Amino acid sequence: MAVVAEGRTVLASTVWSQVPRHRPFGGVVPEIAAREHVTAIVPVLDEALETAGISVGDVDLVAVTDSPGLQAALLCGTAAAHAVGLALGVPVVGVNHVEAHLIAPFLAAGRDPEWPLVSLVVSGGHTHLFRSTGDLEHVVLGATLDDAAGEAFDKVAKVLGLGYPGGPAIQAAAESGDPGALSFKRPYLSPESLDFSFSGLKTAVLYHCFGQGLDGRAGESLKPGLRAEDVAAGFQACVVDVLDRKLRRAVDATGINRVAVGGGVACNGPLRARLAETAASEGWELLIAPPAFCTDNAAMVAAQGTRVFSSGAGAPPKVSARSSWPRIASESA
Ligand code: KG4
Ligand code: ZN
Repeated sequence: MAVVAEGRTVLASTVWSQVPRHRPFGGVVPEIAAREHVTAIVPVLDEALETAGISVGDVDLVAVTDSPGLQAALLCGTAAAHAVGLALGVPVVGVNHVEAHLIAPFLAAGRDPEWPLVSLVVSGGHTHLFRSTGDLEHVVLGATLDDAAGEAFDKVAKVLGLGYPGGPAIQAAAESGDPGALSFKRPYLSPESLDFSFSGLKTAVLYHCFGQGLDGRAGESLKPGLRAEDVAAGFQACVVDVLDRKLRRAVDATGINRVAVGGGVACNGPLRARLAETAASEGWELLIAPPAFCTDNAAMVAAQGTRVFSSGAGAPPKVSARSSWPRIASESA
């Protein structure tokens, strides 16, 4: 829950992390997530208002994520938003979660986006490259064909026994690993492709590092002589190379050298360092939010909600578990 003034100044950004609840299961359990939303929503609202030093009556617009995501969580959030909106007589605007991730770098930098942009969202649920020309105008240049980048981090961390969420765990393990010890094939797909595929990489980790038993299934422990730290470092280096290469291709294909990156995976230190290097050498203007605004937060939702409401394009929430954007034909990217 967040309180944001004029869509720009973050007065409070309260994140109720469900990670400890999901950790024993190595991933998000939808039923637990739904229950947690119901129990947390009012205390989190109170906490955000208290931190911001305002009362609920001072709120003049409510923005809420209405898509994409777990249906039960979206229903809980939108029901609460409607209740506040109805009680206060203020408008309630629905926000797309992925589009909110894209505004986070600009909110953090305290500036408006300058369109057009090449934008990349890398999260637990999405790996999408867009040509963005407005707050609600995103055309897909490429997207994952299977697992999202964050999902690959989470799954690989799970098989390596590094814990959940996998991104920070892989990054930490990789610090004492050698990224060259194991070189995974980079899934660049065809030479022009702006799409992603991470499931083969996950399978490569599984079979290459754990070996294959007579039943065709991967073994339960790392092959002798292999270190989890080296596997983590090799995997992370592979993902960083792929994301860097696809962004370069997207900039070349569109001729747009303003690049914005958001989503939880954008917290990754080696990824941030690589993209900063590429931006410097290629002359891109690159914006990545600080880590607290990369992972899920409500400030980005409030910022996006205020932007679309002020432009007159805001609409009441319409819950949908999935989202889709128009896709550009590759030859006209
Ligand atoms: O955007 P986000 O908070 O939630 C979704 O919308 O999915 O992203 C969560 C994802 C998780 O898969 C997590 O493992 C990944 O972001 N993540 C990272 C790092 N921190 C979080 N991945 C790589 N390196 C990190 N440091
Ligand atoms: Zn997210």
